[in-house]
Amino acid sequence: MSLDKNLIESLIDITSKASISCYPYIGKENKTIADKAATDVMRYNLNKLNIEGEVVIGEGELDEAPMLYIGEKLGNHKGQKIDIAVDPVEGTNFVAKNLPGAISVLAISEKGNLFKAPETYMNKIAFGQNVPKDVVDLDNAIEKNVKNLSDFKNKKIEEICVCLLERDRHIEIINSLKKIGAKIKLISDGDVAGAIMVSDSKYNVDIFVGIGGGPEGVIAASALDAMNCNFQGRFIFETEADKTRAKKMGIKDLNKKYEINEIVKGDSIFCATGITSGDIINGIELNGDYFHTETLVTHKSQNLVNKIQKRFPYK
Ligand code: FBP
Repeated sequence: MSLDKNLIESLIDITSKASISCYPYIGKENKTIADKAATDVMRYNLNKLNIEGEVVIGEGELDEAPMLYIGEKLGNHKGQKIDIAVDPVEGTNFVAKNLPGAISVLAISEKGNLFKAPETYMNKIAFGQNVPKDVVDLDNAIEKNVKNLSDFKNKKIEEICVCLLERDRHIEIINSLKKIGAKIKLISDGDVAGAIMVSDSKYNVDIFVGIGGGPEGVIAASALDAMNCNFQGRFIFETEADKTRAKKMGIKDLNKKYEINEIVKGDSIFCATGITSGDIINGIELNGDYFHTETLVTHKSQNLVNKIQKRFPYK
């Protein structure tokens, strides 16, 4: 079975309205307030949908009492059973500091088909269309992945571009890349967009690597799956509390390397609306009486990958 394609319009509206709700807070040095505004709007509008939805990736867990917590039921409980992954503001620092690249994002699948991920870090790797699975692997040394990609793509190592978050934990990878002369694209935040950049040569990113949020990994995987790209991830459970939580969520092998189709199965819809303009999507523009939004949307079963522009009245 596929997801009802009529949901796409509503989901675009939801991420667009969530983005617009952040507009007053762009550059106000307050990431919490922007996140709360977008979360409220997303929750209010998801609850109006004709679905029997459940949050599998959200703003936290029930005991933290946030909105859009993992396990929260959404929709009018009349339609299709749906798993929902939300990140009302991905790149809260970008909004607070008025920097490029903040997006409002969600992904849905049929019930049971999106990974219920705990709020821990994940070691991730994403690579583009047509690259066979044996060319790149999360467990290879970075030098090997780059060399294999350069052979496969018939590009010099110096032309292979690796995107990763600029974090101290990635110093070793960065030094190895410098040693072999590969190109590095360091991002300060926003690894959903970082991973999606492997999907099109216009972004000049051959491979995305490194440790970032697990929830962001699942959301990126849903877009990459619809774009026929590849992704692997392994959660990192540091504390005993992390491990207990993961087991409670049904994760048996804490060290498992997940392939993309273990993270997202079957049909999926992904929507990401720009809040501030970044590499992959334009941000909100206020023009006269209207907000103009741009949303990247994918629908796996229709092979749909598109950017949709909409306008909403400014009240
Ligand atoms: P927020 O929007 O929730 O602040 O997340 C931004 C982000 O950069 C993610 O894209 C990334 O997965 C994660 O934070 C990395 O976490 P950390 O900043 O702790 O390295």
